[in-house]
Amino acid sequence: MTDFAIAPSILSADFARLGEEVDNVLASGADIVHFDVMDNHYVPNLTIGPLVCDALRNHGVTAPIDVHLMVKPVDRIIPDFAKAGASYITFHPEASEHIDRTLGLIKEQGCKSGLVFNPSTPLSHLDYVLDKVDMILLMSVNPGFGGQSFIPATLGKLRQARKIIDDSGLDIRLEIDGGVKVDNIGEIAAAGADTFVAGSGIFSFAQSGDANTYDTILGQFRKELAKV
Ligand code: DX5
Ligand code: ZN
Repeated sequence: MTDFAIAPSILSADFARLGEEVDNVLASGADIVHFDVMDNHYVPNLTIGPLVCDALRNHGVTAPIDVHLMVKPVDRIIPDFAKAGASYITFHPEASEHIDRTLGLIKEQGCKSGLVFNPSTPLSHLDYVLDKVDMILLMSVNPGFGGQSFIPATLGKLRQARKIIDDSGLDIRLEIDGGVKVDNIGEIAAAGADTFVAGSGIFSFAQSGDANTYDTILGQFRKELAKV
């Protein structure tokens, strides 16, 4: 079986109990913490920054933290996230004037780097920089909010991205973000994704019950993935 990773997006967590929410979802088998950074400029919403990433590390979180930057400009904030304990830092090519330089900056800071593709952003931004990318993140919604519906055209784009990765022979993760639920994670995996962000699909479900509901929802995701 492919090495599938589940990355809950804390955007849908209860921010008043963030440390506990992250502990619980990791204890139930989540692999990566997906950390959505929004600036009310590149996207029309405002969320969390390096202080919160640092707070999770100080709380004792050791799992990889996958920082998804939806900010413009990106370069100034990258060293702050590296110091705050980010493992991956991904950004949108539209938000950087110099994509190659930004990828290099992330690596210099000791983090893994990634490019994020909005639903209408072409994969051609990968040309000439594929060897500097550790993660390709395809947005299956327009960025800015949790709880939106998966855009089906992303399945074809996933297949294209999977081919680019396989043809290159490089070790690059293929992450999907937006509208991932129990009823579509199987077809998303079959289309080539190996890393699955889910916000409302995990936290909104679990907020309706006790901590063990994380076991239930993650168990359902794993069951669907095991069929692929
Ligand atoms: C949207 C964010 C996503 C979001 C996904 O801009 O990048 O990570 O939290 O939320 P769901 O899983 O609810 O679509
Ligand atoms: Zn995200």
